[in-house]
Amino acid sequence: MALYAYLEILLIPISVIFLYFLTIRTQKKSSVPTNWPVLGMLPAVLQNSHRIHEYATEVLTESNGTFEFKGPWFSNMDMLVTSDPANIHHVLSKNFSNYPKGPEFRKIFQILGDGIFNADFELWEFHRKTTLSLTTQPNFYGFLEKSIWAKIEKGLIPVLERFLETGVEFDLQDVFQRFTFDSICKLVLDYDPQSLSIDLPCIPCEKAFNGAVEALLHRHILPERIWKLLKWLQIGKEKTLMKAWKSFDEFIYPRVSINDGLEKDDNGFNLLKSFKRKYKERDIYSSSGDSREFLRDTSLGLMFAGRDTTSTCLSWLFWLLAANPSAEMKIRREIEDELHEKKDKKWRIFSVEESKKLKYLHGALCESLRLFPPLALEHKAPIRPDVLPTGNHVPENKVVLLCFYSMGRMEMIWGEDCLDFKPERWISECGGIEHQPSFKFTAFNAGPRTCIGKEMAFIQMKMVAATVIYHYNIEVVKGHKVSPSDSIIIQMKHGLRVKLSKRNVY
Ligand code: HEM
Repeated sequence: MALYAYLEILLIPISVIFLYFLTIRTQKKSSVPTNWPVLGMLPAVLQNSHRIHEYATEVLTESNGTFEFKGPWFSNMDMLVTSDPANIHHVLSKNFSNYPKGPEFRKIFQILGDGIFNADFELWEFHRKTTLSLTTQPNFYGFLEKSIWAKIEKGLIPVLERFLETGVEFDLQDVFQRFTFDSICKLVLDYDPQSLSIDLPCIPCEKAFNGAVEALLHRHILPERIWKLLKWLQIGKEKTLMKAWKSFDEFIYPRVSINDGLEKDDNGFNLLKSFKRKYKERDIYSSSGDSREFLRDTSLGLMFAGRDTTSTCLSWLFWLLAANPSAEMKIRREIEDELHEKKDKKWRIFSVEESKKLKYLHGALCESLRLFPPLALEHKAPIRPDVLPTGNHVPENKVVLLCFYSMGRMEMIWGEDCLDFKPERWISECGGIEHQPSFKFTAFNAGPRTCIGKEMAFIQMKMVAATVIYHYNIEVVKGHKVSPSDSIIIQMKHGLRVKLSKRNVY
């Protein structure tokens, strides 16, 4: 074992030398990585680690959607990488019971503890049933609408107005991240930290998500012993991840003490109290036997789910609309045609019912999710050996990486215009929303583990997007570089720098 550990530590300098040779090997046109002795395909991955999602897409396109990645010797990094819809359907739905997330997933995402994202089998079923039973309560959507409305009125609009008055450029992605962080905290912890306020306060837990999602992708790229060594040395992205862990714990623990106010009957909706009641009834504890820890894990999972996904989709939507002004015009026309203008009010905020009528906006959001699915990849490992529809054999416990980002960019799935932003793709002939099977449009996952928050996310994104598009013109700052981040969530690496001007709607 010790010998393997030394070998892997040596991998980094050896890889650097290989990178040098790779760089000067200009004659190699193919993106498919060379399988070197000892190092396997790791050098190509390290060479492209700053553009890992695009690189995976190039390799998968060249390999017809499925690719066997060979890691360095003894590193346990061999994996099957796929973006083929038949394989995705097989792994996520048809043969679901054979594909838990597996022990490797749990090691990488250790920060999420026993929350729903890390759970398999009975624990996952318990989480899923509990969460669904709460989000399907009759008062849930009323509460959601009220809290989104309040956040738009008291958080988003004042902040945007301040940027308008001062005329300064600002990062729209940061504004959306603050919006979704406050909203998900209110929903899960019944506490609004007000990170979206005029003075834009720095709340360590809110900022910690960005570093954490980058470090989690890093753990997919490096051999386990190497990232464990970096963690032990407390350096690089592992250090950031440990700091994020501390920030999450310091933020969540004080808000989840178990018996707090359970005896009182609430008329309103309170997800945290409902979780506490359920856990008390079922006497559920985490693997460490601590019920506070279990509540921390449950809350953090939902905060990850709610903060990064919707803010990422909204940011890409506004970038795509800036590049496609005719689509933005169509959304404005749709708002004018479908929704009655209330000229007496200073601010027009749209209700859930109104937002549901906005089909073209729905199509635009789906395009944003297709081209930039917030969760770039999914990670599974079969319990029993299996053969995928593409004929690839998968031995037990071998990691199967499902590349959602690459799927949206493949001609074989979406046709020749796959890279174009076309909300019309989602409008049926009779003017309704065109359904796409979930194993083709995988932004919300597919099968029994399909996203629980899909409906919630569309409501929030439509209410926010309609309000902003209706009141403001958004111009992306000239020369601002936009590219996907190297993280498990496809955020914008350098944010979205914009300038605002007011639309004349009064
Ligand atoms: C645009 C917004 C969203 C996208 C693209 C999205 C996408 C996804 C994806 C890909 C998964 C599968 C993750 C995995 O198994 O590793 C997932 C699961 C999940 N999502 Fe979402 N999500 C969004 C918003 C939300 C929101 C707002 C919530 C609410 C808090 C939420 C709650 C969940 C939960 C609880 C799961 C776990 C389901 C399970 O494992 O059974 N999501 N989501």
